[in-house]
Amino acid sequence: MSVLLTGGCGFIGSHTAVELINNGYDVVIADNFCNSKPAVLERIGRITGKIPKLCVADVCDHAAMTKIFRENGIEAVIHFAGLKAVAESVSKPIDYYQNNLGATLNLLRVMSENGCHRVIFSSSATVYGFAEKMPLTEDMPLSCTNPYGWTKFMGEQIFRDAARADGSLSAVLLRYFNPVGAHPSGLIGEDPGDAPNNLMPRLLRVAVGIDEKLTVTGTDYPTHDGSGVRDYIHVCDLAKGHVAALKYSETHKGAEAINLGTGHGYSVFDLIFAFERVNGIKINYVNMPRRPGDVAINYADPQKAGELLGWKAELGLDDMVRDAWNWQKKKSALTRALFQL
Ligand code: NAD
Ligand code: UFG
Repeated sequence: MSVLLTGGCGFIGSHTAVELINNGYDVVIADNFCNSKPAVLERIGRITGKIPKLCVADVCDHAAMTKIFRENGIEAVIHFAGLKAVAESVSKPIDYYQNNLGATLNLLRVMSENGCHRVIFSSSATVYGFAEKMPLTEDMPLSCTNPYGWTKFMGEQIFRDAARADGSLSAVLLRYFNPVGAHPSGLIGEDPGDAPNNLMPRLLRVAVGIDEKLTVTGTDYPTHDGSGVRDYIHVCDLAKGHVAALKYSETHKGAEAINLGTGHGYSVFDLIFAFERVNGIKINYVNMPRRPGDVAINYADPQKAGELLGWKAELGLDDMVRDAWNWQKKKSALTRALFQL
């Protein structure tokens, strides 16, 4: 069965491509490389023995997407393509709405024109905004605090409306919590560029010596140690969630939002100390004020994913920090080797 992964060369898409190939699917990737590199394809090939087919295309481009559907007999889509930097979305809201919503609208149009009725959408726990209670369940009220978040909120609504109008459509809206870690081979992982905002890539920069100290943004939250609590999920568990969602979409019609999280909250200090213990590396840090817009605590109720998809996260915090460091070490070694050439 031929599955199209929009944005399939990115962090979550590349790990999902591995999982799909290992489960016997034919993977076609559409990516414009605005936040990834073609080298990932060969690495997916080294892990799985099969390089996915690449179509260099902007998902907003109707003609290019039509060609991909016609030439590859696409039966289902996993729609990862999108811009994802929260702070950048505040300074460039038009870019975010145009790319993220434009891609979603164009994709749905091309799917409908080509008789494709199954789609999995990368949504985010960001759609819960400042929730009043934990854990977060899918039926809780939604709200957002930045344009990136609104593109996920509106994206979900577009899929819900499309599924209401077209009874043959199956749309699974996966709300990811905080994906971290990397494939245990160390061949693929997150590659966020020079100015990452998220905790794990920033911690990795300190571990390799690029940055001197990690800033712990907020130590006065009402949590067990004062730092922010999140539901970190290993990207390989997340990838398996997509395979489960794809199977679910074979028989389910309509739009369904489902959390992909572990159900456990860990603080910034929990993550730092786990990293130090598992990898034997000291992480220097400095306490700083809260980051504007941050919530104190965020974690999923993963029950619905268990009931509907038969999926449950299996890897723990130690696996996440070990695999993230393994990936970072290999990436740094490769960069050094390239500079010596
Ligand atoms: P990523 O940036 O690594 O991957 C996104 C991919 O989409 C990149 O390869 C990029 O080049 C491609 N892309 C973007 N716009 C495109 C377009 N118009 N046409 C073609 N390709 C395009 O991001 P990721 O971490 O793998 O995230 C995947 C999806 O999951 C995104 O939609 C993101 O918003 C969502 N998400 C991510 C997180 C996270 O923390 N990583 C959390 C929740 C939701
Ligand atoms: N943090 C630090 N220092 C840093 C970076 C982050 O202490 O240098 C803290 C934050 O204050 C927060 C925690 O680490 O308490 C996690 O922050 P991240 O930036 O890694 O993740 P967020 O939960 O803020 O946001 C992420 C994605 C969003 C997504 C959201 C929910 O960046 O796109 O998870 O899925 F919407």
